[in-house]
Amino acid sequence: MQHLKMTCCNYSFVLLLFILITTNGAIAIDTIYSNHTLKDGDTLVSASEIFELGFFSLGNSSSRYLGIRYKNISTDNIVWVANREVPLNDPRGMLKVSDDGTLQLRSVSNNLIWSSQSSKPVTNTGSNLAAQLLDSGNFVLRDDTSGEFIWQSFDHPGNTLLPGMKIGMNLVTGIKTNLTSWKSSDDPSTGSYTLWMDISGYPQLYIMKDESSFQQRLGSWNGLGFSGVSGSSSHRPYMFDFVSTDDEIYLRYTSVNTSLVTKMILDQQGSFNVFFLNTLTQSLYLYTLTIRDGCDRYGICGPYGSCNIDHAPPCACLEGFEPKLPEEWSRGKWSNWCKHETLMTSENGHNIKKLSNLKLPDSRDSWFNKTMSLGECENVCARNVSCTAYANTDIKGGGNGCLLWFTELIDVREASTRDNSGQDIYISMRNPNTIRKCISDSFIKKKKKLPLQVILSTVIPVLLLGFALILYAWRNMKKSHLKFEDEDQKQDLELPLFSLSKIVKATSNFSINNKLGQGGFGAVYKGMLEGGREIAVKRLSKTSRQGLIEFQNEVICIAKLQHRNLVKLLGYCVQGEEKILIYEYMPNKSLDSFLFDENNSLLLDWPQRCHIINGIARGLLYLHQDSRHRIIHRDLKASNILLDSDMNPKISDFGLARMFREYETEANTKKVVGTLGYISPEYAANGVFSVKSDVFSFGVLVLEIVSGKKNRGFSHQDHHNNLLGHAWRLYKEANPLELVDEALGGSWNVSEVLQSIHVGLSCVQQHAEDRPSMSSVIHMLGGEGALPPPKQPGFFTEATKSESESTLIMPQVLVSINEVTITQLDAR
Ligand SMILES: *[C@@H]1O[C@H](CO)[C@@H](O)[C@H](O)[C@H]1NC(C)=O
Ligand SMILES: *[C@@H]1O[C@H](CO)[C@@H](O)[C@H](O)[C@H]1NC(C)=O
Ligand SMILES: *[C@@H]1O[C@H](CO)[C@@H](O)[C@H](O)[C@H]1NC(C)=O
Repeated sequence: MQHLKMTCCNYSFVLLLFILITTNGAIAIDTIYSNHTLKDGDTLVSASEIFELGFFSLGNSSSRYLGIRYKNISTDNIVWVANREVPLNDPRGMLKVSDDGTLQLRSVSNNLIWSSQSSKPVTNTGSNLAAQLLDSGNFVLRDDTSGEFIWQSFDHPGNTLLPGMKIGMNLVTGIKTNLTSWKSSDDPSTGSYTLWMDISGYPQLYIMKDESSFQQRLGSWNGLGFSGVSGSSSHRPYMFDFVSTDDEIYLRYTSVNTSLVTKMILDQQGSFNVFFLNTLTQSLYLYTLTIRDGCDRYGICGPYGSCNIDHAPPCACLEGFEPKLPEEWSRGKWSNWCKHETLMTSENGHNIKKLSNLKLPDSRDSWFNKTMSLGECENVCARNVSCTAYANTDIKGGGNGCLLWFTELIDVREASTRDNSGQDIYISMRNPNTIRKCISDSFIKKKKKLPLQVILSTVIPVLLLGFALILYAWRNMKKSHLKFEDEDQKQDLELPLFSLSKIVKATSNFSINNKLGQGGFGAVYKGMLEGGREIAVKRLSKTSRQGLIEFQNEVICIAKLQHRNLVKLLGYCVQGEEKILIYEYMPNKSLDSFLFDENNSLLLDWPQRCHIINGIARGLLYLHQDSRHRIIHRDLKASNILLDSDMNPKISDFGLARMFREYETEANTKKVVGTLGYISPEYAANGVFSVKSDVFSFGVLVLEIVSGKKNRGFSHQDHHNNLLGHAWRLYKEANPLELVDEALGGSWNVSEVLQSIHVGLSCVQQHAEDRPSMSSVIHMLGGEGALPPPKQPGFFTEATKSESESTLIMPQVLVSINEVTITQLDAR
């Protein structure tokens, strides 16, 4: 690239610039020199023509900014803004390379709007200064003689990190480079969020809100990635590079393929994401940088707690620790941390426990030495009473370096087992408060180990006996399987028949402590079979007047419904008056226990909610269309959506409505099964039900999942509508995103959320024929097929009417107000 030196007047410069840019960029101008100005309307283009520097406005605002943007991308293209805090008020601003060695942005009245402040003393004041926009997107002011940079935009990032830019600290000048979010998409001034590197201990990245509250800790660098941050290490199209020298500590990234155009952004919601340019469409697409979920909330489980997003509740104490206040802990107040469990000590009073695949605790006040071995590290920790844990600083090639903690361990999470992004940590089990007592309690030290022979001679017979018992039980169970002939298929189906005594034992005689909930068809208990398998036991209420054979046929019919989004029936029991169904046990309980709980809702991020919506839709489609028997659920609601250990949604209680009455495609019935808030207008008013009644309930569920609010009992200061009415209002006011649950923070995808709201509103239409079928719903959720705009939903003001009464009388139907399903049945 040759530099075109401007020696003539400003006019010819502009003219030349104009010619150069309009001749399809064969040569573009990228440099201006001393005493020249760049006017609003002029542009500097980098040699590769990827970036340009010029004046622009944002959104509907008329304010003018000087900045750098991608030349050939039309949206989200700004990567740097010079005067982000002070906009120009009219389009006659100009940038000047000033004699005093600075860049100056001045308004038409010659007011100084912005200027480059160099950290280095400017020795060169004179004519050989050049301001150039480099191919990297770095705008530099240099001494044209020595080539030295006097100032560069890369030292002053806004919300965007480009390859080659640094986040960190220059230890010589003390200058920190952080990313700061914009206020809004048309106001680039400093917003709430900052991404910065803390170097007070072992360096780590944080996202802070309003400079005071920790939002997320991206963690420390371990040579491969950020400790415990899923997706930050291997198999990514970008690489981070962590550099720590005596002069500076910083992190930067490069694209694996340097011809890929990429940027990272700290957005207005505090999310840090990567974008890539799709060269076919010349638009940017999002490539998630870090998977954010509820466990990323800084310190959510308190000191010595550890967060696992796959568990419910997600917080647990680290191994060897227990909750300080167990009752508060079980109520979800996890900030009331964990304490050392029992006193443990070895001969030298020092006992360590190795835990694996964890995101390392906050290392703010830690100490480190990058050349020490793990053995040396252990020795240092053992010698210092305040040492709480140690780990390698770098896990590349078997591990290296020593990192020591002297404080309580906070913000630990279990890393995903998919990419094993976590690492090993060695925790000192020595309780600092009781260390002296521990040493004087000599009996602990003298505790003898059991000789191996003793262990073997007692354990082996017990194991053999246990094995024999299991074998015996298994054979017995097989014998008791009943075989039923299915009339349609003449197919054998073996569904275990459990004895009542077995169920009584498994549930401690239907103990209240084992009760999981009460549904319309009966109570549900948790049970444990002899082999240790956990089950859910549904004890059907005695209102069913079905005969034995009828009941068995129904059970087999339900058992045949198998789909990954339906709860699996494992067996049943029928004895005397008792009719019992045995299901697989779902460790994460039901959707309502997450959605409507202040703490748990933080753990359901948008991708999970989206996954849940899709899963329910597929399960329901299967019931409506794909199973051999068309099944209408009739009582779809958040508490009937169970969640397995991977948070997959499973519809429960399907087929039970059918069991309580004959099968019809659409029926007029006096017996209504349903729950207020989810029940469709035609079903509640006239007892008419169809698959579209389920679609209505599904729509309510979708809006509840998006908003995190219950339809029933919803209240708002501005109006008396329920959630459906509220969603409709916001939709009409073109403000649908206001419905989104605050617990989601910034982690949601606008188009997916909009689509879900649209689907939700379409499903809760007043008239059944206006509601889509489940197969169209699935198409729409998958982004295929368009939906007509929704009309006013049915039942949108019901909340006000029913608040004070305990029952609501509708034509022919009695529906109770509480959350329990109503089954009002005729005696046969
Ligand atoms: C890098 O990206 C360019 C443009 O997308 C592509 O043509 C090229 O094949 C890529 N190179 C490698 C090594 O993947
Ligand atoms: C780090 O540890 C090595 C090896 O033990 C030692 O030689 C070195 O002096 C230590 N450095 C610091 C800064 O403590
Ligand atoms: C333990 O380490 C801390 C932090 O480095 C230090 O302040 C303290 O003096 C050490 N104590 C002992 C007994 O070495």
